Amino acid sequence: MSSIKKVAIIGTGVIGAGWIIRCLAHNKIVYAFDKDLELKKNLLSEIKRTWPFVKKLFNKKKLNLNNFHFFTSIEQTLKDADFIQECATENYSLKTKLMSTIGKYAKSTSIIASSSSGLLPTRIYSKCKNPERGIIGHPFNPVYLLPAVEIVPGKRTSKKNLNLAKKFYKSISMNPIMVKNELPGYLSDRLQEALWREGLHIINEGYATTEELDRAIEDGPGLRWSLMGTFLTFHLAGGKTGMKHMLEQFGPALKLPWTKLKAPKLSKKLSSRLISGTVKQAKGKSVAMISNIRDQYLVDIQKLRKKYEKKLR
Ligand SMILES: NC(=O)c1ccc[n+]([C@@H]2O[C@H](COP(=O)([O-])OP(=O)(O)OC[C@H]3O[C@@H](n4cnc5c(N)ncnc54)[C@H](O)[C@@H]3O)[C@@H](O)[C@H]2O)c1
Repeated sequence: MSSIKKVAIIGTGVIGAGWIIRCLAHNKIVYAFDKDLELKKNLLSEIKRTWPFVKKLFNKKKLNLNNFHFFTSIEQTLKDADFIQECATENYSLKTKLMSTIGKYAKSTSIIASSSSGLLPTRIYSKCKNPERGIIGHPFNPVYLLPAVEIVPGKRTSKKNLNLAKKFYKSISMNPIMVKNELPGYLSDRLQEALWREGLHIINEGYATTEELDRAIEDGPGLRWSLMGTFLTFHLAGGKTGMKHMLEQFGPALKLPWTKLKAPKLSKKLSSRLISGTVKQAKGKSVAMISNIRDQYLVDIQKLRKKYEKKLR
């Protein structure tokens, strides 16, 4: 069991809101910081939108909003916090500066985690007091429903704090992935980014629309990925002898020019294809409407997945 009760969330955009909702659902006391009091309104409406899904996934009865406190003073937000989850804009200089401020006002024993999607923790915590408590805790959107969180140490992070962070994330029903050493993009985003970059090339070269590429994933690899990753999937693709035959058959394809990996230039033409393509895919539905459909699906699929996961792990 984690002894961490009071959590500070710094930055209340998409990811900050997700952490707030997940922490509230697990009876943590949440102190949230953002620059503008106006943002509290968005936050409350996002909590209201997501609660029915969160409640169902975690079998919760009541949301206790008395545990939620919003501040526009960072000092006040950090005062009593045992665990700090930073969720500000992805940018090295902004995060490095912010971690220096957080280090100054936080209790010396509190753990500091950054939600960064791929920045190196050693650099982010280079100006932070007690960098041995600084980690990356990289979640996935929507944080309130997806269990994955990558814990990445910096060069100066202590083992003790990594373990405390692991315990904390488990106490809010997450499945931490312990990354051995820092690397740009960590594990999952390195994989996601490769797919994204290839997709951008295909769209840029005019071979497919955003919708066609999404369908290529949704009806094929995507359905399998929610149960097993690429390696076990490819083991099955090799027939009776598994990965051995898979490598014999598809190994030579590794030499063919199937992938480009280096991202194409995000030109006006490419940006406009991505934006108009996804607007067309949305078919007039707002982001909140599509999020509701996704969230219901994620609750249902995770309940179903539990049954099958047990047989594999
Ligand atoms: N969006 C995703 O899918 C996703 C997934 C995983 C991780 N992340 C990571 O989470 C972090 C936040 O991303 P997001 O998508 O929520 O961004 P966002 O733009 O939705 O929100 C960023 C928030 O940070 C606040 N902010 C900006 N500067 C600040 C500062 N100096 N101090 C405190 N708050 C500040 C903004 O007011 C805003 O509310 C990033 O590091 C990102 O890489 C994002």
